[in-house]
This record gives sequence, C-alpha cells and structure tokens, in this order.
Amino acid sequence: MNRWTSGRPSVRAALAALVPTLGGCAWDTPMTTVIPRSDFAREIVHVYAIITWAAAGIALLVFAVLAVVLVRFRAGPGAPLPAQTRGHTLLELGWTIAPALVLLVISIPTLQVIFRTQAAPPAQALEVTVLGHQWWWEFRYPTLGIATANELHLPAGRPAVLRLEGPDVIHSFWVPQLGGKRDVVPGRSNQLTFTPQVAGEYWGQCAEFCGVSHANMRMRVIVDAPAAFEGWVAAQRATPPEPSGRAAEGKALFASRACVGCHTIRGISAGVLGPDLTTFGSRRTLAAGMVPNTPANVAAWVQNPGALKPGVKMPALGLTDDQARAVATYLESLQ
Ligand code: CUA
Repeated sequence: MNRWTSGRPSVRAALAALVPTLGGCAWDTPMTTVIPRSDFAREIVHVYAIITWAAAGIALLVFAVLAVVLVRFRAGPGAPLPAQTRGHTLLELGWTIAPALVLLVISIPTLQVIFRTQAAPPAQALEVTVLGHQWWWEFRYPTLGIATANELHLPAGRPAVLRLEGPDVIHSFWVPQLGGKRDVVPGRSNQLTFTPQVAGEYWGQCAEFCGVSHANMRMRVIVDAPAAFEGWVAAQRATPPEPSGRAAEGKALFASRACVGCHTIRGISAGVLGPDLTTFGSRRTLAAGMVPNTPANVAAWVQNPGALKPGVKMPALGLTDDQARAVATYLESLQ
C-alpha cells in the first residue's frame, strides 16, 4: 500500500472488484470459448479475433490521442477559455464516417461466417434430435434408433446436424468448444450443424433462463473416435442383461414403483417424461451433469431428488435407505 491506494475508498473498491473479475479469467477451462474443437467454433473464434484486434487497435489510437491532448493542452492556473468550435462540417463527417467504416469492416467476416454456418447439412451428417426439458437434455438418434440423456456422443470427423426442439419452455443449447448458442424453442425446430474435430469431453450448459434449476441444466458432449462411437452405439442397442442379487431387488422395486410411469428401460418400461435409463450405468454424470454417477449419489437422488436439484419434476419416492441402495445397484448395472 502506498499513499495512493491506502487512503482512497474508491481506489480500494476498484481494486477489490478487480480481484474477482480477473479470477474469472482463464484460457483452458471446460467452458472455454477460445479453444475451438469444431469447424463451427473455429469460425466463431476467427470472427472474435478480428473484432478483438480491430477494437484493440482503435483503443490504442484513442488512448494515444487522449494522452497527447491531456499533456499538450493542459490549462495552467487562471488560463483563459480556449477557442470554442461549433458546427464543424469536416469533423461531423469524420466522426460519422469512421465508425460506419469500422462497422462495415466487422460486418463482412461476420456475415460470411453466418452464411457458412447456416448452409444445408451434408447428406452424410449424423442426425440428432435435441429436446430441452426442464431441467435436462434428451438426445434422440432417429437413424440409429437410440436415445440418451445429458451426454451426447458424436463421432469425430463426421458432420452432425442437431435439430433443437422443446416440449416446455425456451432453452438454449450451448457447448462453447463445439459451437455457438442456439435457442431451443417449443413449437419450432432450430438447427445447428458442425463437425467435431477432436475426440474428447466437452461441457455444455443451458444458456437461456428456463426456471429455478436453469443453472443445473448441464450436459457433456463426448466426441469419440469413429470406431469407439460404433462400439457405443452397439452397447446402447443391446438388451440389458437380466440382473441378479441386489440388482434384481432393485429391478423389482423399479418395476413396482412410480419409476415406470416416467422412465424407459428397454424391455421393462416405456415412460417418456424423464430420461431413458436403458444404459444409465454407462453415463458419467447424474441429474444433468450435476454430480458424478456413483452408487451413493444415485441412492441419495432416488430418495430425494429435490435435495440436489431445486424444482425437479421427479418426486421423492419414499424409499428406505436399503431400497434406495438396491435401486442404485440395479441402475448402475445397466451398462
Ligand atoms: Cu434450460 Cu435454462
């Protein structure tokens, strides 16, 4: 602390605000917008870079002129009022045309990217129907006959066309490393086409306020190498094995409780209000990306989902601790 920062409340407040602001800055985070991993995201970062450099250049110019003016035209004590300028046509024209030119320069690459990313999807694109629900994501693969929730698997190197639809309120699909935000609007089908380029796990999040658990409407996109993707599809299509022991107890509970009214497990139930659980055990997370998919978390969830996720539509099922553990064992066995 020196004499400038110690005494002034405004300086101290500004410094205090700077700390959390800069704390939010990072390059390589799960939701990074500056490390693109698809053609679409690369296009966005390209426009972003052009605008950032243009803005930086203009800022530098403005600050340089400002510094010169501050030093050169500084008034001494008792100096007279300087000459006043009014209605200067050249100046008026200058500061109208210059910003218009800046906007023009920015609009050219922006419009080019908009047109390129809105082109019709190629014929070999993998089709996925994305349904935004309060507060989870449903992914259906109409050409493959499978469905999953909150974890979208895509093959690397193959274009994917996502058809975004919604049964309740407006959501927004956003996986920053793969593409831009696109709204999911009930009653219409929006479209997002991109080609994931690098295998890996990418985080996403609903980006349109959609109710009390909006912040808990997360997702993962798992981009697999083509062969690994084929393996995943085959596993999704297989009929779950007949459980034994504790898992069999859990299956009996699942089949006799309200679970069957909302969830599909192929061969057991056909509910459509909640996520398809046919291969639940193969998922990495639970409750739309909120916590890791572990037996303890699943048991706590089925006993009282509202404790983890405010406003959740799934009711507490009135299971004992032992019953909840049996149901969790069964669900985890569904690989
Ligand atoms: Cu769905 Cu916010």
